[in-house]
Amino acid sequence: MKSIHRATFAALAALALTAGPAAAQYPNKPITAIVPFAAGGPTDVVTRLVTEHMSRTLGQQIVVENIGGAGGTIGMTRAATAAPDGYTIAVGNMGTQSAAPALYPNLKYDPATSFTQISVVNYTPQTIVSKKDLPPKSLKELLDYLKANSEKMNYGHAGVGSISYVSGFVFNAQFGFKPAMVAYKGTGPALNDLVGGQIDYLVDQSMNVIPQITAGTIKAYAVAHPERIAALPDVPTTKELGVDFIFSAWNAMVAPKGLPKDIQDKLLDALSKAMDDPALIKRYEDLGSTAPKGADRGPEGLQKLVEAEVARITPVLKAAAAK
Ligand code: MLT
Repeated sequence: MKSIHRATFAALAALALTAGPAAAQYPNKPITAIVPFAAGGPTDVVTRLVTEHMSRTLGQQIVVENIGGAGGTIGMTRAATAAPDGYTIAVGNMGTQSAAPALYPNLKYDPATSFTQISVVNYTPQTIVSKKDLPPKSLKELLDYLKANSEKMNYGHAGVGSISYVSGFVFNAQFGFKPAMVAYKGTGPALNDLVGGQIDYLVDQSMNVIPQITAGTIKAYAVAHPERIAALPDVPTTKELGVDFIFSAWNAMVAPKGLPKDIQDKLLDALSKAMDDPALIKRYEDLGSTAPKGADRGPEGLQKLVEAEVARITPVLKAAAAK
């Protein structure tokens, strides 16, 4: 009996030594949050919103590092290969975490197995927008205009595999449009060029385009969503216009694979506190975004979403490529 007690005590002591101290002292220096796209775009905006709040909960600064390029896969590769000590986290999106494997045969990470999942951070529908002085006044007119002119036009996106690339690729393939595809390191700089008139149209996250739509510097034709969003009450949905094109984006916080569970829990707790803050909920609403709730929040919800989205988007991309 005594020896069983001694063994149990030894096992508990060993567990305390391996699991306890990491979380007890964490974080004791600034954390880096990799954004795999340019500053000013939707991933950057949502990451700065949540990490500013998280840093207050955790008592340490979270420094955002923008590592754009190759549709976000450069930054996510950096995140996948960093030390799993909680001092490097990243916010990927539906492109980097679901579409990239179908488009990059030599991708150095697997979204389902190379990361410690933390949680979905937000969902945002895509919106179809153009430069301000493009002649069409409705989605129907835009589709007709693109049918006649797309080969002379420019579509902007955040690199092969990004959400704007994938949603534009599917949209263009569905209607037979053939614009020049112009790559940026994120839709932050792509949107600047849309406002400046250097590119013609974009299918981009509402989170990115709402401020410019509201300011009247770009034109919105439809939100690719089943219901209107409160932040754009006057912009119709593709569904109500009878156009079969629904496309939603999401962002997700991850860390390198092998992150200790107690650190994962601390990060999730801080992220949850941010997403439950009424000020942040209001900010999300103003940007057409929503936060995950219930079982959709946390590592299991994110793991399920990644696996389901990889399975859903791979055939969609193949079908679009075949067109
Ligand atoms: C960005 O932050 O620039 C976007 O999320 C890029 C995209 O995936 O379209």
